[in-house]
Amino acid sequence: MSDDHDHHDGNDDHELRVSKIRDGTVIDHVHGGQALNVLAIIGIDGSEGEEVSIGMNVPSDRLARKDIVKVEGRELSQDEVDVLSLIAPDASINIIRDYEVIEKHRVERPEVVTGVLSCPNPGCITTAGEPVISTFEVLDDAVRCAYCETIVREDIALLIDT
Ligand code: CTP
Ligand code: ZN
Repeated sequence: MSDDHDHHDGNDDHELRVSKIRDGTVIDHVHGGQALNVLAIIGIDGSEGEEVSIGMNVPSDRLARKDIVKVEGRELSQDEVDVLSLIAPDASINIIRDYEVIEKHRVERPEVVTGVLSCPNPGCITTAGEPVISTFEVLDDAVRCAYCETIVREDIALLIDT
């Protein structure tokens, strides 16, 4: 019985890799290796003094390895969550107030994303300086430009308009 007790205490101590935050957003269950893309999507590069903690490739129950991003004092817009869902389809968004999780939801993949990605095809009407807002259809493992039908599977984060 005392063995069991020790085992549980040890686990808790060893598994907290990144400190809890006070107020802000925890983006959890991000696929291993995507944390820096998550930061790019939410427009954080640290240059404005944002308080951010990142865990990369940490062990997880649900995914083999996960990344986790914790941002103090920030909530995410629906556009940001929509784009996040493209590179982190299993992510959960946790809103933290006064150290408590007051809201938790899984990201959902939208059917289309409008005005947040730019088409990589230089001949596409959306990149020709015309007043056309980019629109991508979200497929299972890719996005497709609604205008020129270019399909992008990898590095979707590189298409994000900044
Ligand atoms: N968290 C945090 N700061 C807080 C509260 C929670 O950084 N003040 C983090 C936790 O470390 C965890 C995530 O927010 O990574 C979600 O917290 P919680 O719901 O308590 O954890 P779990 O039950 O493990 O979440 P899930 O079921 O989504 O895996
Ligand atoms: Zn296009």
